[in-house]
Amino acid sequence: MNIVFFSAKKYDQESFETINKHYGFELRFFDIHLNAETAPVAAGADAVCVFVNDQLDEACLTALAAQNISLVLLRCAGFNQVDRAAAQRLGITIARVPAYAPEGVAEHAVGLILALNRKLCKAHSRVRETNFSLDGLQGFNLHGCPVGVVGTGKIGAAFCRIMLGFGCDVYAFDTMPDSALIALGVKYISCNELFTSARIISLHCPLVPETYHIINNEALGLMPHGVMLINTSRGGLIDTPAVIQHLKTGQVGYLGLDVYEEEGNLFFNDESEHILQDDVFARLLTFPNVLITGHQAFLTREALHNIGETTLNNAKLEFNGKNCGNRLPI
Ligand code: NAI
Repeated sequence: MNIVFFSAKKYDQESFETINKHYGFELRFFDIHLNAETAPVAAGADAVCVFVNDQLDEACLTALAAQNISLVLLRCAGFNQVDRAAAQRLGITIARVPAYAPEGVAEHAVGLILALNRKLCKAHSRVRETNFSLDGLQGFNLHGCPVGVVGTGKIGAAFCRIMLGFGCDVYAFDTMPDSALIALGVKYISCNELFTSARIISLHCPLVPETYHIINNEALGLMPHGVMLINTSRGGLIDTPAVIQHLKTGQVGYLGLDVYEEEGNLFFNDESEHILQDDVFARLLTFPNVLITGHQAFLTREALHNIGETTLNNAKLEFNGKNCGNRLPI
């Protein structure tokens, strides 16, 4: 069986080729996004394997179906990039990797918090220049700090456990509260209550119509002055121009992002030789209290192994006419 990979990086190829020794599929790797125009690259494939910024809209899925490709393997958990209704209509099965290393993503969110709070990037640059001044490096104790978590699924729950370990007061909002977290001391409150009471807010809900721009002008207006916002989930959860306005007034005191709404044109590529065309992103880069990583929260050794193993097992089961158990809900 033949699987064509889109948006494939060196680390994807190395990981999948190692794991594929136990599966024996024919794998072809391309470092281009999948969309309606690039779909013909998959000619002859039995399945395509894609990542977070491949656009599985109706046009792209139609182009795949025209080549008799009826299996799409997402090597990620989120599936906001998929037109599920179109896939169902076209008879295309979409399988994903629902959990590969939730702790790793949560740990990255905590890394952003620590780096922003204790100004680690600035401190590192100063020490490299033998500037040992501490002016402007003051942080605050996480112990006793009210932390709000939006979405307490696998990643949000791991994040809650870490923050409880720091001695934070952890508040959460989720449409399906987790009794195990309540037993650990997490307090579920409404979304607006969370926005008004937390000094650090970390987003771990999926991007769905109900959560699109959940951080907007209105929500930002509810938050305490100087709030820290962390988003390792999906860029579309945040209305970025609104956050920029609130960064300018100091209402948002810290912003840590691993995802960005328009990241599809930027992230995962070396753009250092090109002129940055995205003025919103360029403005974000000017703030000393904004820390951005390029969608790397997932990137741990354990995650790559789990992604490869689950994806190829999904392929094996589906090629054998079985439901792999990781199909997207309709
Ligand atoms: P999950 O499905 O285990 O948890 C999502 C949680 O959000 C669930 O508890 C669900 O009830 C809750 N939720 C759904 N709608 C909600 C709403 N309207 N308001 C509040 N809560 C709501 O997902 P998991 O594995 O924890 O992943 C969360 C997100 O993290 C994914 O959707 C994905 O976008 C993102 N992600 C980012 C990665 C990165 O590298 N930056 C890597 C992996 C996932």
